[in-house]
Amino acid sequence: MKPLAHLQIPLISETTELPLALENFPRFRYMGSKFRLLPWIHDAFQELDFDTVTDAFSGSGVVSYLLKAMGKQVRANDSLAFPSVLTAATVANNATRLNNDDLDLLLNSKARKSDEKFIRQTFEGIFYTPLELSFLDDLWVGMREMDSPFKRSVALAAILRSAIKRQPRGLFTVSDPERYQDGRRDLKLTLKQHFLEQVEAYNAAVFSNGKRNSCSCGDVFEVKMGSDLVYMDPPYVPLADDNCYIKRYHFLEGLACYWEGKELMMSSKVRKITKPFTPFSYRSTAIDAFDRLFRKFADSTLVLSYSSNAFPDLETLRKLMGRYKRTVEVLEKTHRYHFGTHAAAKRNLVEEYLIIGTT
Ligand SMILES: C[S@@+](CC[C@H](N)C(=O)[O-])C[C@H]1O[C@@H](n2cnc3c(N)ncnc32)[C@H](O)[C@@H]1O
Repeated sequence: MKPLAHLQIPLISETTELPLALENFPRFRYMGSKFRLLPWIHDAFQELDFDTVTDAFSGSGVVSYLLKAMGKQVRANDSLAFPSVLTAATVANNATRLNNDDLDLLLNSKARKSDEKFIRQTFEGIFYTPLELSFLDDLWVGMREMDSPFKRSVALAAILRSAIKRQPRGLFTVSDPERYQDGRRDLKLTLKQHFLEQVEAYNAAVFSNGKRNSCSCGDVFEVKMGSDLVYMDPPYVPLADDNCYIKRYHFLEGLACYWEGKELMMSSKVRKITKPFTPFSYRSTAIDAFDRLFRKFADSTLVLSYSSNAFPDLETLRKLMGRYKRTVEVLEKTHRYHFGTHAAAKRNLVEEYLIIGTT
């Protein structure tokens, strides 16, 4: 067996500059987001030779956006619906912005039929104020009337980011937001005020890199994808139950599709939706899932983001990737995640890895 190639990582100050477009990315508070690791990831990508790239677990979309800004043809995918809205608006969309007529349509639409008032009927007393919930229902009436899918995705991305900013700690695990007030501006603004700001933010994020970029929503094993390079940032086997994406963000996932096709758990206090299965989240299935993942993309250069507090361990993953790639290198960097309590802060200090399989 070949020895591990631990490459020395340059300090942030020595890294090359991120592409300027990154300044316009509307940062989304997302568990496991690689936002703070971007300079390091950017440097690693710069060493590799590729034109087309798949971001198979796109999450907040920030890595896809980086790759787009680097001039690559990007294919973003995530199994959840709302991450795919974020990449539709910022990555697949090369030119479409909302104009004043679009805003007029959105802000003057009104939910009239009972089934158009689903959000207020379902979440009153749980999240936001009743008026804000009606605003969301009304907005959806307007979004349905939009003929351009990209316009709708810009509007949706704007309301998704509004919804997470307006929610205490950006989590939908507990109800009764009025009890949790820390004076932050984000909690003081109404959803409508946020929305107007976020439309500007997402309009500003739109740019073309001259490539036909795309996005999809699906299980990594079911969606047809392939490219010169595949970047993989799957979820980790959770240390605690609250690592679950649906538990944290179920409201955003529902809002992205007006809860169509989603199963509401009426017995849950916060009206969660049922959790989709992913083999990456369980000790019993994770190793096989990684093996299948590397096999699926064996013809591409593989780049896997991983960390020292996750299962399986680095050595296992390196061996698994080595089944499909002759050269496997590991880049390493110490990183502190900002999710969790102060008590958990120590646990949140982890070694981040980029496991890179070439040839
Ligand atoms: C660690 S996050 C990705 C974070 C992202 N790289 C970023 O910087 O924001 C993992 C993502 O994998 C998605 N996911 C989980 N299981 C999946 C599967 N089987 N297929 C595709 N995506 C999946 C989750 O919805 C989540 O968004």
